[in-house]
Amino acid sequence: MLFYIIIFKSSSVGRIIFTCYNFNKIIRYYYIKEADLMTKITLEVNGKKVARDVPDNTLLSTFLREHLNLTGTHVGCDTSQCGACVVHVDGQSLKSCTTLAADIADSKVTTIEGLANNGKMHPMQEAFKKMHGLQCGFCTPGMVMSAIDLLKKNKDPSDKEIRDWLEGNICRCTGYQNIVAAVKEASSKM
Ligand code: FES
Ligand code: FES
Repeated sequence: MLFYIIIFKSSSVGRIIFTCYNFNKIIRYYYIKEADLMTKITLEVNGKKVARDVPDNTLLSTFLREHLNLTGTHVGCDTSQCGACVVHVDGQSLKSCTTLAADIADSKVTTIEGLANNGKMHPMQEAFKKMHGLQCGFCTPGMVMSAIDLLKKNKDPSDKEIRDWLEGNICRCTGYQNIVAAVKEASSKM
């Protein structure tokens, strides 16, 4: 005897859940209004308190990009592989594409937009610029956020330690050499 659960989801309609027997007989269905699936997310993002009512399954990357318009956090894979979406949560680097915003409620989040101070770039941003650590720039926000976290934990990393740390950040342009040079440059300034 086989049972299947099929979920139809629409942001305007809600979720309709059919429980089926052998795909040919719908024995029961449930309807959940989208409003019942909303949750209030409160966070401190780049030093400002924010609160938004969003679907309870909203990813942190979606919350930042679509609800706060902080599009500096990029999404390359959505599966925790490329690192383009890395932000800091309570000072630790984290892949925002696989983090539910609701799971980090009331945390302090820093995105690439929050690094500059009074219009002056963060030393890691300066180093990437100086050492040409980017080409298309798609990976750069995640690289910068990850590299800052590395230097908090290890002020003078070797080339190998930098490459090992950035293993979860993929760059399709640079060949990584100038990224490593940029992190070393920043380590002499931070
Ligand atoms: S978008 Fe998050 S790791 Fe690729
Ligand atoms: S600079 Fe293009 S992906 Fe890294």
